[in-house]
Amino acid sequence: MKALVYHGPGKKSWEEKPKPVVKEPTDAVVKIFKTTICGTDLHIMKGDLPTVTDGRIIGHEGVGIIDEAGSAVSNFKKGDHVLISCITACGKCEYCKKQMYSHCENGGWILGNLIDGTQAEYVRIPHADNSLYPIPAGADEEALVMLSDILPTGFECGVLSGQVKPGDTIAIVGAGPIGLAALLTAQFYTPAEIIMIDQDDNRLDIAKKFGATHIINSSNENAVKKVMTLTNSKGVDTAIEAVGIPATFELCQAIIGAGGNIANIGVHGKSVTLHLETLWSRNIIISTRLVDTVSTPMLLKTVNSGRLDPKKLITHHFTLDRIIEAYDTFENAAKEKALKVILTNE
Ligand SMILES: NC(=O)c1ccc[n+]([C@@H]2O[C@H](COP(=O)([O-])OP(=O)(O)OC[C@H]3O[C@@H](n4cnc5c(N)ncnc54)[C@H](O)[C@@H]3O)[C@@H](O)[C@H]2O)c1
Ligand SMILES: [Zn+2]
Ligand SMILES: [Zn+2]
Repeated sequence: MKALVYHGPGKKSWEEKPKPVVKEPTDAVVKIFKTTICGTDLHIMKGDLPTVTDGRIIGHEGVGIIDEAGSAVSNFKKGDHVLISCITACGKCEYCKKQMYSHCENGGWILGNLIDGTQAEYVRIPHADNSLYPIPAGADEEALVMLSDILPTGFECGVLSGQVKPGDTIAIVGAGPIGLAALLTAQFYTPAEIIMIDQDDNRLDIAKKFGATHIINSSNENAVKKVMTLTNSKGVDTAIEAVGIPATFELCQAIIGAGGNIANIGVHGKSVTLHLETLWSRNIIISTRLVDTVSTPMLLKTVNSGRLDPKKLITHHFTLDRIIEAYDTFENAAKEKALKVILTNE
């Protein structure tokens, strides 16, 4: 089969690899139908994630069809259409029992990281019963690719951890696919105001269309000042960090109101200054989270009923064999006006 293989920082190729096989009775081999590229894959390509080694097939999102199911897989059989979760969960360990699948002792985020991933014609999924979700008949499979990672991430790490409530004023820093997923799912709770902050005017315009009440381009406006003006100097109830750099976490600390929640989503590679000298007395909660994908079944229902339309996040389409071109587009997101790119295995 063909697959996108990582060969060290800045080096990738679309090359021949052996087709995966069932190794454990709980495994399933899935024929990829549609997959995509994540911001995290770009971090991998830069060499930011040392767990990813030369020869690894990357990618952790997608939908497909069961090609082979191990003898202990009871929820799926050959031919079933499935959604692949970016998180692998055994369902049996201490963390899985607590629904903290991200820290599963036999899984967690391993796909396209510690084991071969989804940017390939076939992928082996361990603990298939707990790591795949059945796709209901008639569902828009392309839209469901957004449920492998970005929607549960925006929802769980941003909206749930940030305790968004009706009537709240929230700010989301970063209008990439993850920040926009937080924007879409925050609206389950009808916050009164949603302030979106980014440096990319195209993404901010999209945020406005997706329901942001205010947009701030922090490269040409003083974001702290503007948020304080919008909130009568009170600050916001929830500040969601969806970038992953010190400047944006500092911004969240500067705009959080008394009693507020700072929900960090961003993957940080550098330490950040914690301003306890101003925050200690302000009854603030700060949360961090690796997505658990526990909300996937709920999100599937909201997508199927049309309450949530994640297809809005898809801007580009390629056939899977043009994945190198798709990476170029996604890497130049501002210039290409790209959000999520869909790759179809024809
Ligand atoms: N916690 C988790 O489980 C989890 C899961 C998936 C992704 N992530 C992380 O979430 C973050 C967002 O992911 P994404 O795919 O949307 O990334 P992205 O790179 O597509 O989007 C980031 C956005 O931040 C904006 N930005 C950059 N610098 C800024 C600044 N100084 N001020 C304001 N905006 C700025 C960019 O213009 C861009 O729109 C990444 O750090 C990613 O690794 C975390
Ligand atoms: Zn991802
Ligand atoms: Zn487990």
